[in-house]
Amino acid sequence: MKMEKLEIREVNSQNIDDLINLCIPSDKKNDPLFVEGMKAKKKWATQAIEKYGSIAKLAYLNSKPVGLIQYQPDQEERLVKISCIVVPEKENLRKGIGKSLLKALIEDAKKRKLTFNNDVPLALLTWAFRVPRRYPQHKFYQRMKFKKVKEDNPFLLYYPLKKGYVHHPKEEKFTPQEEDRGKALIFYDPSCPFSIYFSEKIKESILEVAPDIPIRIINKFEEPEETKKRGQVPVCAVNRVPIESFFMDKENFQKEVKKALESCSIPR
Ligand SMILES: CC(C)(COP(=O)(O)OP(=O)(O)OC[C@H]1O[C@@H](n2cnc3c(N)ncnc32)[C@H](O)[C@@H]1OP(=O)(O)O)[C@@H](O)C(=O)NCCC(=O)NCCS
Repeated sequence: MKMEKLEIREVNSQNIDDLINLCIPSDKKNDPLFVEGMKAKKKWATQAIEKYGSIAKLAYLNSKPVGLIQYQPDQEERLVKISCIVVPEKENLRKGIGKSLLKALIEDAKKRKLTFNNDVPLALLTWAFRVPRRYPQHKFYQRMKFKKVKEDNPFLLYYPLKKGYVHHPKEEKFTPQEEDRGKALIFYDPSCPFSIYFSEKIKESILEVAPDIPIRIINKFEEPEETKKRGQVPVCAVNRVPIESFFMDKENFQKEVKKALESCSIPR
């Protein structure tokens, strides 16, 4: 059998493109919304490396990129927030790549290599969202000894790095502003290259039921003050009401948008 060589490397200015390309399905590489999403991610990654030093690790199997783990330190809460882990190709699954990526991140945190004033962060924290037809992130993290933050939520998980640490989430509310009345807001995270595509689909869906509504699209990384002043922001809010349905559930999404517009009179 051929010997396979697995290496975990830090993402830096030299290999940002590997980080970006890994997430894009081959049939989407030339789709304008994905091209824009890739550009937004590159800009985010360049700035985030400068700001935080370490933001992601890549796994290379025989020198070919095959997996990633992406994260961001939250200095205020002293947590490392993992945004995603993925090994895209079927042929590379169950070879220990995911485990090696996570192990490398835990080692870095323990060796104080992440930016926490030379201290060890309290924990790794992740919201392990699901993607259809893939082995779910939350099951992987639970196998890797992550704990649930709340017993009834299998997706919000953490891994304590300081002995005895128990994570209690900050209970933050969405605080819409007066200026948001009569408008639609879409918040996106540029660290995911799907975000531009998602934002555009949300916008189209809103305009189908409210053709005249002004729409504001907010980049959460580049406009932190716009995000922070609104507290826990949803993906989308219409007329100051957060829309809970995912945009792919178009019927319920549009129902919620219409209801939000009726909820109080819109100044013209
Ligand atoms: C989660 C994921 C990264 C795991 O990658 P991987 O390299 O295959 O994982 P590993 O080989 O390191 O497996 C670690 C452990 O996870 C568990 N596991 C992983 N895949 C599994 C599967 N299909 N069924 C059951 N257990 C599984 C096992 O306990 C495994 O240990 P074992 O092989 O010794 O039994 C991969 O399945 C994936 O990419 N899934 C999609 C994740 C996703 O949706 N990400 C967001 C995309 S934007």
